[in-house]
Amino acid sequence: MDLFEYQARDLFAKHDVPVLAGEVIDTPEAARAATERLGGKSVVKAQVKVGGRGKAGGVKLAANADEAVARATDILGMDIKGHTVHKVMIAETAPEILEEYYVSFLLDRANRTFLSIASVEGGMEIEEVAATRPEAVAKIAIDAIDGVDEAKAREIVEAAKFPAEVADKVVNVLVTLWDTFIKSDALLVEVNPLAKVASGDVIALDGKVSLDDNAEFRHDWDELHDKAAANPLEAAAKEKNLNYVKLDGEVGIIGNGAGLVMSTLDVVAYAGENHGNVKPANFLDIGGGASAQVMANGLEIILGDPDVKSVFVNVFGGITACDEVANGIVQALKLLEDRGEEVTKPLVVRLDGNNAELGRQILTDANHPLVQRVDTMDGAADKAAELAHAAK
Ligand SMILES: Nc1ncnc2c1ncn2[C@@H]1O[C@H](COP(=O)(O)OP(=O)(O)OP(=O)(O)O)[C@@H](O)[C@H]1O
Ligand SMILES: [Mg+2]
Repeated sequence: MDLFEYQARDLFAKHDVPVLAGEVIDTPEAARAATERLGGKSVVKAQVKVGGRGKAGGVKLAANADEAVARATDILGMDIKGHTVHKVMIAETAPEILEEYYVSFLLDRANRTFLSIASVEGGMEIEEVAATRPEAVAKIAIDAIDGVDEAKAREIVEAAKFPAEVADKVVNVLVTLWDTFIKSDALLVEVNPLAKVASGDVIALDGKVSLDDNAEFRHDWDELHDKAAANPLEAAAKEKNLNYVKLDGEVGIIGNGAGLVMSTLDVVAYAGENHGNVKPANFLDIGGGASAQVMANGLEIILGDPDVKSVFVNVFGGITACDEVANGIVQALKLLEDRGEEVTKPLVVRLDGNNAELGRQILTDANHPLVQRVDTMDGAADKAAELAHAAK
């Protein structure tokens, strides 16, 4: 789960990373009181989970409360790279910024460790710096067990060539930021810019945090979820413990095993090129050992998606044999009809692997008017794409 900047700010504050005051609001008028509480001036910052807000006009200084209201009016409702701004943070204005640095910790999957990235050339051009002058960006591996203590933080500070006068302060930021990273079970904590201001202090002016969803059971993250942005189908699927991701095409996909489903998406997208460019409408992995109930739940979610015009059920029998899956499909359709759901979209089913012949026979015998059997993955993808195109 990615956090908004204001949530990252709160998390940093909790772990003693130096930040400025800020409060989140969702109406322009609320910017007035917030700005007055901050001493009469503020920075109005769009809260969207996408980078480059400043360049898009989503970060503006306000010299007084009236200006804050005007800037909040401009920014609320703005579209930044496809994200609508529903909230802004009214932040305390930093004292004169002398330098902007970049620091982050992240999980480095390729090297099976954690990584710190630091640069004295932070700010809004950091991507440009990283692309054109990689030597200006220090990358230091971090041992998962040792973590970042003061000595390790000094190593990072030296590698990135932070000026001596800020070294101690940056060390402090790194140690507290690491604490935030570990205690929050984050996959990424990023500060850009980490600003050196006129007083000589070093302050985190912007934060990006991504939390590891697998660790949610040991945290209280309810408040952090962005309920407004949650896709209703994804929320319903989550409630049923299904591995579902909504996509923007027309062919509903159900498969067993994430790898098989991923390749099914590819095959359908490819087949769609010959059928009006239809695309997969979702990812849904019903996993191994999928019962009729799970199949019914999966079908219910997919058939409930108005974008879906046809469904491709792609199953490779392994531990769960194809005859069980075929029975599951037949029972699932009956279950849905009993529940009063109108099942009107065509299903293309491909069964292969363990007990495929038996499974195919079950479908043939059931002779459901909406179910078609195609026994190859490519053939079934083509059929599902064709049906989706015809129904568009
Ligand atoms: N509280 C603040 N006071 C003064 N200046 C600020 C403050 N917050 C941000 N700025 C200035 O605005 C610039 C952009 O802000 P910020 O880093 O939050 O947005 P961004 O980098 O454009 O967004 P993103 O990180 O999403 O790409 C900063 O580099 C900094 O110069
Ligand atoms: Mg930034």
